[in-house]
Amino acid sequence: MTRAREFINATYAAGREFLRPAQASCESGAAVSSTIVPIRSVGSGHSARISQHLLQLSPGDRYLRFGYAASDEQILRYVEGLKFERDEVFGIFSRHLELLAVAHLAFSVDPGYASCSEFGVSVASHARGRGYGARLFDRAVMHARNEGVTMMFIHALSQNTVMLNIARKAGATVERDGSESEAYLRLQPADIDSRLTEFLEESMAQTDYRLKVQAKQFWRFLSILQEVRRGVRDARDRTPM
Ligand SMILES: CC(C)(COP(=O)(O)OP(=O)(O)OC[C@H]1O[C@@H](n2cnc3c(N)ncnc32)[C@H](O)[C@@H]1OP(=O)(O)O)[C@@H](O)C(=O)NCCC(=O)NCCS
Repeated sequence: MTRAREFINATYAAGREFLRPAQASCESGAAVSSTIVPIRSVGSGHSARISQHLLQLSPGDRYLRFGYAASDEQILRYVEGLKFERDEVFGIFSRHLELLAVAHLAFSVDPGYASCSEFGVSVASHARGRGYGARLFDRAVMHARNEGVTMMFIHALSQNTVMLNIARKAGATVERDGSESEAYLRLQPADIDSRLTEFLEESMAQTDYRLKVQAKQFWRFLSILQEVRRGVRDARDRTPM
């Protein structure tokens, strides 16, 4: 079965999942292996949410993500410096539009290494172990292939076994150099399946995001309506007969 076909089947399954009560969804922390995870490309309009996500990382996680204990100022400078028009930033949003996970696929600026890219990722501590890190890695691989990239690099501390395992499982070669490790993955050329799958995944994730925005707005509208109703009822109760 092609990945595009697998994706279409998974989308039907996700549609059924969407209709289930909230506690049965992937947001509850349940295993997501059989559930599709909407991963969308995010742009400069989401800079504030990216900053919020990164600023919430603990000092230890900042060290793992950036290779140094990034301060709040350094994180804000990193987000400000993101080149959305050149690189690709992917995100996974919660129902409340919180960015649960962010991946940055940076393309080489050196024309001599035009076919190389670097991958970095972080998942909010309360959303770990659901497969988001691995899914973002797969998504970045697919995008990199479709952009003609042949090598993807992951710079990680040697102690970061979770990240290195994600890379290893995807077929990357890991070279340890003391406390630091360099993993690289040779990518297959793009094909019709990788292009179609990425197109379908992005379309589905954009639709999912729009639904989440609408749902959030609708709940806000309902709560205002309820407050108005409560006010009218209270006023009526206070009116002397
Ligand atoms: C690394 C990180 C992105 C992983 O995200 P995640 O969503 O929790 O990872 P996943 O759920 O996709 O898990 C990937 C694999 O690691 C395993 N794993 C997850 N957490 C684990 C843990 N604490 N201990 C051991 N294994 C773990 C999972 O079981 C899974 O293995 P499997 O594919 O065999 O089932 C996340 O821990 C993180 O944000 N860390 C801080 C920043 C960082 O280290 N970034 C990477 C540097 S580029």
